[in-house]
Amino acid sequence: MNETKKNLIPNRKWWKEAVVYQIYPRSFKDSDGDGIGDLRGIISKLDYIKSLGIDVVWLNPIFASPNDDNGYDISDYQTIMKEFGTMEDFDEMLAGMHERGIKLVLDLVVNHSSDEHKWFKQSRSSRKNPYRNYYHWWDEEKGKPAKRWSFFDVNGDAWKYDKATKSYYLHYFSEKQPDLNWENPKVREEIYKMMRFWFDKGIDGFRMDVITFISKDTTFPELPEKYHGNFIQYYAEGERRHEYLQEMNRKVLSWYDIMTVAEGPGTTTENVLEYVAEDRPELNMAYHFEAIDLGLQPPERRLLDPNGWSLIDFKNVYSKWDAVFAEKGWGTIYLGNHDQPRMVTRWGNDAPEFRELSSKMLTTFLMTMRATPYYYFGDELGMTNIKFDKIEDYRDIMTINLHKLIEKEGGDIEQLIESHKISGRDNGRTPFQWDDTANAGFTSGEPWLKVNPNYETINAELQEIDENSTLNYFRNIVKYRKDNPVLIYGKYTLVDKDNPNVYAFTRELYGKKLLVLLNFTEKESSVKTYLDLSRAKFLLGNYPNPSVNGTLKPFEAVILEF
Ligand code: NOJ
Repeated sequence: MNETKKNLIPNRKWWKEAVVYQIYPRSFKDSDGDGIGDLRGIISKLDYIKSLGIDVVWLNPIFASPNDDNGYDISDYQTIMKEFGTMEDFDEMLAGMHERGIKLVLDLVVNHSSDEHKWFKQSRSSRKNPYRNYYHWWDEEKGKPAKRWSFFDVNGDAWKYDKATKSYYLHYFSEKQPDLNWENPKVREEIYKMMRFWFDKGIDGFRMDVITFISKDTTFPELPEKYHGNFIQYYAEGERRHEYLQEMNRKVLSWYDIMTVAEGPGTTTENVLEYVAEDRPELNMAYHFEAIDLGLQPPERRLLDPNGWSLIDFKNVYSKWDAVFAEKGWGTIYLGNHDQPRMVTRWGNDAPEFRELSSKMLTTFLMTMRATPYYYFGDELGMTNIKFDKIEDYRDIMTINLHKLIEKEGGDIEQLIESHKISGRDNGRTPFQWDDTANAGFTSGEPWLKVNPNYETINAELQEIDENSTLNYFRNIVKYRKDNPVLIYGKYTLVDKDNPNVYAFTRELYGKKLLVLLNFTEKESSVKTYLDLSRAKFLLGNYPNPSVNGTLKPFEAVILEF
């Protein structure tokens, strides 16, 4: 597309045109042999990151933390986690990214802190302490507070009794993650000050952890009837959430050229614009769970019903979410992250004959939708779930505590173990597979989580030299997206919507029209496009001999131009 046409595109923004690459620092590259990835490890791999062609790196939390939940429990927001390095390492890493034209987004975890944060230590020390109201307390004399569910608690209980002051405190996640009290203006000011500290250092944005949960009804009533069975929705509908995000925007975000993305549990197509419409203004983007949770019953336990979703459901969800942003706001798209299994295992097929094909097909999906792609490290290699068969191998507090909870309830442990082979979070957290040396070249020590034994055949070094590897496919398609604004801004139209095997859609912008065909199955499958395919030009695909007649080979992906 020529420059004049590009200039016609309304509301262009760098973060709409970006491809975000998410790195889980604990598992990327260890530089000092302690078995835990670190910032110097990332620094040593900046050229690799640059070679992918991505624009933005999102790093999971790198701040001081006792690591009850791998850094999502922060004890000091302005210090680097000691396992990860120092502030000097951070500055060097940021400079190294910026020199290479890569932006950096950090994780903002402010629904809760660690119980080892100095605010909480003060807060729990006495009912009269000035920090008392930084957290949510319920005094014992008022009786037991109304039930709140905790994601990671061994009893599923979000209220923890604290002997020192004879009160309960609230923790939606583990008992070492007490919820901050956003209703207290001092807490908000402290958070804004800390955000400015990082922006003034030059970071380019924040991904905001469970930001939809920050506002709470501090009378803590019984859950209203309409939320029974759906406490996530209740947590996400706190009355003052938008007031707080607008305040944050006014006082901090609007002063910088940065991007923001909400982790958005509880966002729906009906309410998402309240977070991301330009005229609010609050945040730039949000990511939802409607598609990624298909088949999880119930989502908070990550128990998977393998027949609980179909490609038709999947297409409907993504098409519905595309439509929301037709006039306002902007979407996101992802199929994996540190809370999810490996995308090829969950949405493709990780058997040797289909692993590469289905990885490439899923990558094609992510890079051709009208939304900013968030691509998870290791997916470019087609890394797969490790599928632990014993609880002792897990390191994730979520799986470990669910196991304890289900054991206590006398529930079905076998079902948990089997389900978590597909859905457990540690599957996406195993160390990055650099080469075929010991521990996949990730560490010279003992890795904090087992390395997937398939590293001997699935690793970056091997894929570098193979021009047809999933790694090189990723590089090509990233470049292709960036060179073709139709893939970023073009109108999306679902084609052959009732086709149970093929996801087909067109993208159109100023006279350019592309057709994307994705076979999500192991079988040859046909699609009815009602387009004259004989006129189409083949652009990109995952087979050496692409199908251009509407009948696709197993897991085939093709992009055609009209
Ligand atoms: C969402 C994060 O992505 C997840 O990893 C974490 O455990 C919870 N929020 C709690 O911070």
